[in-house]
Amino acid sequence: MEQLQELQEITAPLLAWYDGHARVLPWREHPSPYRVWVSEIMLQQTRVEAVKPYFERFIGELPSIRALAEAPEDRLLKLWEGLGYYNRVRNMQKAARILTEEYGGEMPADYDVILSLPGIGSYTAGAIASIAFGMRRPAVDGNVLRVLSRLEKSYEDILKQSVRRKFEKEVQEIIPEGRAGDFNQSLIELGAIVCVPNGAPKCGECPLEKLCRAHAEGVELELPKKTPPAKRKLEDRTVLVLVSDNKAALHKRPEKGLLAGLYELPNLEGRLGREEVLEYVKKQGLSPIRIQELPEAKHIFSHIEWHMAGYMVKVEEPDSKRNGPEDFFFVEKKQMEETYSIPAAFSAYTGYFKERY
Ligand code: ADE
Ligand code: SF4
Repeated sequence: MEQLQELQEITAPLLAWYDGHARVLPWREHPSPYRVWVSEIMLQQTRVEAVKPYFERFIGELPSIRALAEAPEDRLLKLWEGLGYYNRVRNMQKAARILTEEYGGEMPADYDVILSLPGIGSYTAGAIASIAFGMRRPAVDGNVLRVLSRLEKSYEDILKQSVRRKFEKEVQEIIPEGRAGDFNQSLIELGAIVCVPNGAPKCGECPLEKLCRAHAEGVELELPKKTPPAKRKLEDRTVLVLVSDNKAALHKRPEKGLLAGLYELPNLEGRLGREEVLEYVKKQGLSPIRIQELPEAKHIFSHIEWHMAGYMVKVEEPDSKRNGPEDFFFVEKKQMEETYSIPAAFSAYTGYFKERY
């Protein structure tokens, strides 16, 4: 078996394979810098199939960098609702404002400028530079790290910055002139549909089968190596569906930290019993009429896990001069769905808005 001598050997078979097998994806048509940027940010934590409708809707409503720069924040969050990691879209807007103010609303064909924008790291900058501008820059994401680790039978920890940089340098060396974007995407595509992350890679369909060191020794499932992430912190919380007539209470989270600046259902630390909840509600200057326990729920964030108890509390029409310690505000239920984007962490409870009480 002719194993990999030089990484250079992968370019021709990989490009030939890509020409015949690349999926048709919306962002691959007319790959403008803006379209590539939006798609790559969406694809960072979400599967291709799930991204497609979000991408079409986002581009449809905000068709240019300038439109993104000018979008009201609530509209932006609504377009992103369900994708999670909302700071990604907030950073995109910050970057769009910089591009609008300093670069006439266009992404410049300048790698260093692209890399300097908020929310754009070396992967995304490389993807935009190569796919939209044809520049010879690497775009090494998790897919590419997996493919290269296996090809080279490398046991180095791919979560380390130094290892990523090493692979970036190697890719940089072999990007073919004139096909930079296709080459980067061929590596990503191979990782996404052949050299897959969960379950066995489809080595029988792989254009690099004869060159792959991990496959030659039958160790492809051992790679890539990742240090296990730190254990999540568990947190008990009590979530309130606080309703009055056709209104329900929302609260805006602080601008920093978990789910920064997003609207949420009132909630507090710990698991409270009925009596404690009623007392809390009264302390907010509200008069409870009825309380009902809701099913428990769990939500997993990257570093934290919420274990939630829930209550629906009907209260009397709040006095407009209500002066509780927490700044809840009551919103028409209809308006709630149209205007406010509430993070998925609360999805076990937002359905109760629709009930009659
Ligand atoms: N995942 C990340 N970037 C991608 C791209 N450009 N095409 C398909 N899947 C991807
Ligand atoms: Fe991945 Fe198998 Fe191809 Fe090696 S031969 S790159 S392990 S799919």
